[in-house]
Amino acid sequence: MVRRPILAANWKMNLGRREEALAFVRKIRRGLNEIEGMDLVLCPPYTVLYQVAELLRPTQIALGAQDAHWEAIGAHTGEIAGAMLAEICRYVILGHSERRATLSRLESDLAINQKLSAALANGLTPILCVGENLEQNRAGQTHEFVSQQVKAAFRGRAAAEVERCVIAYEPIWAIGTGEAATPADANRVIGLTVRGALAEEYGESTAQALRVQYGGSVSVENIADFMAMPEVDGALVGGASLRPDFVELARAAAGRQRSRKPAKDGRR
Ligand code: PGA
Repeated sequence: MVRRPILAANWKMNLGRREEALAFVRKIRRGLNEIEGMDLVLCPPYTVLYQVAELLRPTQIALGAQDAHWEAIGAHTGEIAGAMLAEICRYVILGHSERRATLSRLESDLAINQKLSAALANGLTPILCVGENLEQNRAGQTHEFVSQQVKAAFRGRAAAEVERCVIAYEPIWAIGTGEAATPADANRVIGLTVRGALAEEYGESTAQALRVQYGGSVSVENIADFMAMPEVDGALVGGASLRPDFVELARAAAGRQRSRKPAKDGRR
C-alpha cells in the first residue's frame, strides 16, 4: 500500500490579519511549491482564507480550514458551514483537542461524527484529530481512548468515505509543549490503535489506505525521525508552521520519506 505523505500547517488563531498572513505566505510559498512527493496544506484562520487562496492558486499547496459546522445553513451564530468552505478549501481540520477541551457540546464525539459526514458530503477532506491526555497516557488508557475516538468519528460512514479522510494522532500532552512523543511511540499508536480500530470496523485494506499524521511539538529537528516511521504519513504542525523555517521543516519531511510512488491520479 502506497500512501502519499501529507504535511499540514495548523495556524490556529494566528496570522489572521490580512497583511501578516499575506506577507508570510509570500515568504514560504516558493520554497513549499518546490517540494515534491508530498501533499502540503496551509490551514489559516477563516478571516484570511480567501486572500491566502489567491496566493496559493498558482501553486501545488492546498488550503484547509480549522473547523466546519455539521449543518449546511441556518441559525448558528458564529459558525461556518462546510458548504461555505468547499469553494476554496480542500481540507478541514475536525475535532482538534483545543476545541474538544473547551467546546464540549460543539465538539462531542457525536458532533464530530456529524461534522465529518457533512465535510465529506461537501467534498472536503477531513483531517480528524484524535489523541489522549496526559492522565490517560499515564494510566495506560491511550489504546482504549483513541480507538473509541476513531470509531465514534467514522460511525455510519462507508469504507470508501473513510479512505478519503486523514487522521492526525495528536497526544494532547505533546501539543505546544516542546515535548513530542517519541517517533517509535507515535508509530506504535498509529499502527496498532488508529489503524487497528479502522481495521476492526472497515477491514485491513481501508486501515492501510488512510493517511495518518502525527502532531504535537513537531519541529525542524524532529520531523525527519517521524517521517522515517512506516506508519506515520506526515504531520500536523502548529507552532513550527508559523515561522519561515517551516519550509526547512517541509524539506526535511520530504527528504526523509520512505520511498513511495506518487498517487496514481496525480492529486495533491
Ligand atoms: P504544535 O501544535 O505543533 O504547536 O504542538 C500541533 C497542533 O495542535 O496541531
